Amino acid sequence: MEILVCNTPGSFSYEQAETPVAKPGHTLLKIKRIGICGTDLHAFEGTQPFFNYPRILGHELSGEIVETDAPGFVRGEAVTFVPYFNCGKCVACRNGKPNCCTSLKVSGVHIDGGMAEYLSVPSYSLVHGDGLSFDELALVEPLAIGAHGVRRADVHKDEFVLVVGAGPIGLGAMEFARIAGGKVIALDINDQRLAFCRERIGVEHTVNGLTEDVAQRLAEITNGDMPTVVIDATGNLRAINSAFAYLAHGGRYVLVGLQKGEIAFSHPEFHKREATLMSSRNATRADFEHVIHSMKNGLVDPKTYITHRVAFGQVKDEFESWLDPANGVIKAMVELG
Ligand SMILES: NC(=O)c1ccc[n+]([C@@H]2O[C@H](COP(=O)([O-])OP(=O)(O)OC[C@H]3O[C@@H](n4cnc5c(N)ncnc54)[C@H](O)[C@@H]3O)[C@@H](O)[C@H]2O)c1
Ligand SMILES: [Zn+2]
Ligand SMILES: [Zn+2]
Repeated sequence: MEILVCNTPGSFSYEQAETPVAKPGHTLLKIKRIGICGTDLHAFEGTQPFFNYPRILGHELSGEIVETDAPGFVRGEAVTFVPYFNCGKCVACRNGKPNCCTSLKVSGVHIDGGMAEYLSVPSYSLVHGDGLSFDELALVEPLAIGAHGVRRADVHKDEFVLVVGAGPIGLGAMEFARIAGGKVIALDINDQRLAFCRERIGVEHTVNGLTEDVAQRLAEITNGDMPTVVIDATGNLRAINSAFAYLAHGGRYVLVGLQKGEIAFSHPEFHKREATLMSSRNATRADFEHVIHSMKNGLVDPKTYITHRVAFGQVKDEFESWLDPANGVIKAMVELG
């Protein structure tokens, strides 16, 4: 089979490899779609922390079952899978949080992923496609990241939810905050992305952090209350530190975005709010199923996300162009026959 290997930062090559054979407890998939995400772009740029090369990228995947021993799954079925492989034994796994397993292996990050014609995955990771298309199924993982953050925040009806960062992850958080009944406010520094929020996913309130007084605008929008939930989806240290000040008294702040530095905030300001700070890592099967259910019910329209589309054979040539913000990539989707 053909595989695409990221050999070192900036270098891809197509290679031939043995088609994997499904071992017991594993399922062989014929890959149909590969969604490209920030992690893949950073791995290619060489800016993804703790990344080893060579690596086959790709973790936003959908495919068709070639061979499986998973109960209830059949050959030919369209599926996606939860690409965070867990140990099943550690404290997190024992407590129903395999998404933050102490020895988590993410497909396409820590181990080889799906930029290949076939991939063998643990059978426990499979998720039924439920009649969705391969495009839709490849978008479940990135949307589940935002859905998980919203679940961590325990968003309830009619509360204001500020989502900082309107990239694909933030957009997912906005959609699932809305589905949970929240009143969504999008904050970004990129007008093109804020326009996308308003025009494509129906976000009512958008704020540009470069050109507007953010605290004042948030106070106006929330009648002086400020948002009871803030979700960071920038991964930008300055944005993360600033947003502590946007939180309502009694509010929750969820960090979905990720960066390498140390967060700093005023303890008295945090204390006086009796605020809650949480991180949100990956997603669980329940989030995947929630996303699939929401797609089936038309609450999220995955078509809006796909801005670029290429065949597997073109990835090597096109990949670098997706790094350029001028190309307006939200989600690039790779197709295999
Ligand atoms: N929780 C998880 O498991 C998980 C999974 C995938 C990605 N992530 C993280 O989520 C974050 C977002 O991912 P993405 O792919 O959507 O990234 P992205 O780069 O496409 O989007 C980030 C957005 O933040 C905006 N931004 C940057 N600085 C800002 C600032 N100071 N104020 C306001 N907005 C600002 C950018 O304009 C951009 O639109 C990243 O940190 C990524 O590592 C987390
Ligand atoms: Zn991803
Ligand atoms: Zn574990």
